[in-house]
Amino acid sequence: MANPIACIEDLRAAAQRRIPRMFYDYVDAGSYTESTYRANETELGKIRLRQRVGVDIGARNLKTVMAGRQVAMPVALAPTGLAGMMHGNGEILAARAAERFGVPFTLSTMSICSIEDVAQSVASPFWFQLYVMRDRAFVERLIERAASAGCTALVVTMDLQVGGQRHKDVRNGLSTPPRMTLANLLNMASKPAWSWSIARAKRRYFGNIVGHVKGVDDMSSLSSWVRDQFDPTMTWADIEWIRKLWKGKLVLKGILDAHDARRAVEAGADVVIVSNHGGRQLDGAVSTIEALPAIVDAVDERVEVWLDSGVRTGQDVLKAVALGARGTLIGRAFLYGLAAGGEAGVRKSLDIIAAELDTTMALCGCTDIAAVGREVLASHGHDAMRCGIPDYALD
Ligand code: GLV
Repeated sequence: MANPIACIEDLRAAAQRRIPRMFYDYVDAGSYTESTYRANETELGKIRLRQRVGVDIGARNLKTVMAGRQVAMPVALAPTGLAGMMHGNGEILAARAAERFGVPFTLSTMSICSIEDVAQSVASPFWFQLYVMRDRAFVERLIERAASAGCTALVVTMDLQVGGQRHKDVRNGLSTPPRMTLANLLNMASKPAWSWSIARAKRRYFGNIVGHVKGVDDMSSLSSWVRDQFDPTMTWADIEWIRKLWKGKLVLKGILDAHDARRAVEAGADVVIVSNHGGRQLDGAVSTIEALPAIVDAVDERVEVWLDSGVRTGQDVLKAVALGARGTLIGRAFLYGLAAGGEAGVRKSLDIIAAELDTTMALCGCTDIAAVGREVLASHGHDAMRCGIPDYALD
């Protein structure tokens, strides 16, 4: 991280310089035309905050609770596949940075470091993200492994049973294993710091899978197993089955519709995450900040609502909280930090967002994140109406 870093965008640019194109593009990509990927950020950007003055903002509190856990701010690290390819031992480094900062880390099923690797590296509990695979015995074993590792929440991703295409991945030959074209090899050779960190890493393949599934012990068997396993027949009945197996908090990720949110409550969820997978799945889907108010209304405080997809600033976090999200998750925003500078880079991402959130809250005249509501939002005609923001009198 040679240049001064002022914001997440600076970390993004640093990440782009530091790691091979195929892994950078994997993160910085949406599906198909990327319209939903862009909408997540632009719709958040359209919401206007209400500046207030003459309020004592000397003492401020960003601490709150997500799924029963005290957090230093309403932000958790989202589950992201391949984090260990952004930097060697990437998931361990991100989990350590999150622990030291005081926010939760979520390990993806499709991580490079395994559940056990992360459990050995941090003292506080982390969360585990589950994909429902065709091999239900494997799913059951993953749930048991997460419980044995002390994970307190299971985050079941519901919006990736079939994969939205990211054109950049096709063009770059990102697959399991990556296509080692001359262009890819030359590009990797031009990233020595990244190559060194990967060369020294504990693992380079999916650590939760290799060695845990019969017959999957090399890259080619892994590749065909992964291709065949995401189960398009998954239904709410599977969620009810998981609910019976998992004693901790159950978090359902990928809820974008009020009807589905109500169904999630019936299935026994503790939390729903309003998510469109960072604009990486259904291209043309509504942005998450637009979907949030109707989902908050639909669940009517029976479960917590969190939001991800498009969160890059503390201002974004405040807007989501104002519209009813108890918490938010960041994916790209911490992966850019991880790619740019390992554990220190993730810490930098968290410091940036916390400082932005703190200052923005203060300038809105708020001192406690847990008390923030729609009163921090200024009504702005058409856009605010679409977000369901009421018109507050400027008293
Ligand atoms: C996996 O979760 C992906 O978005 O690539």
